[in-house]
Amino acid sequence: MERKAAAESMTLSQRADELEEEMMHELERIAVKSVLYNLGDGRVGMESGAEMMAKNPGKYFLMGADPRLPQMPEKPTLVDYFRCRFASTAHLLQSATHALKAGHNEKVIMACLLHDIGVVSFIRCDHGYWGAQMIEPYVDEEVSWAIRVHQALRFFPDEAAGYAYPDLYRKYFGPDYQPEPYIVEEYKRARNHKHYMTARLICVNDIYSFDPNAKVNLDDFVDIIGRNFKQPKEGLGFDNTPSSHMWRTLMWPTRFL
Ligand SMILES: [Fe+2]
Ligand SMILES: [Fe+2]
Repeated sequence: MERKAAAESMTLSQRADELEEEMMHELERIAVKSVLYNLGDGRVGMESGAEMMAKNPGKYFLMGADPRLPQMPEKPTLVDYFRCRFASTAHLLQSATHALKAGHNEKVIMACLLHDIGVVSFIRCDHGYWGAQMIEPYVDEEVSWAIRVHQALRFFPDEAAGYAYPDLYRKYFGPDYQPEPYIVEEYKRARNHKHYMTARLICVNDIYSFDPNAKVNLDDFVDIIGRNFKQPKEGLGFDNTPSSHMWRTLMWPTRFL
């Protein structure tokens, strides 16, 4: 009864936190949320190891795979991350399909296919930079460069290339939104770059109005990925590149260290 009254007085988010806490207790090991997850909830804070151990007597911390997440193979490929870790792939597949049908070359199609992996796997803020960094060791520099600067280019129209400022952005960010100065600077630098048009084509093929009925399939792009993504034989994450740790973090996002 008391518990029911307490539950009723809880806000929805408190209830969600409690359910999550209960779920954590059911795990054999203690899954840990990094500070970033708490920042996302508007809270600067973290629990100490001692506090978490006290709440979970007799348990060790998780230092590997989180059993709540889809199991990754021992030597994961980019396609495995698409299937097991990317929260949503319809937008990427629709953009890449659009580029494919428009007859663009494979570098453009690859750039469209991967342009928002920062968003769907990691974080929204500066997603172009994050996404580019993740794939930099494995793709042609034209592809990663284009993904990096699409972050800036999408805020600036290029009517000659067929790109207008998206109506959706007016709706999302308000009519007066102005990009930060670093984005303006990035745009100016990109304008004169030899790969400008590749980045611009990401924007042109970026599908802002998602068609829920469009039939898209990752299988259609497996060959293009094979030709344009240097899949490490050790598995993506275990290959000792400057971005391997990012892939490992996606694989094991709740490890204690
Ligand atoms: Fe994007
Ligand atoms: Fe996009």
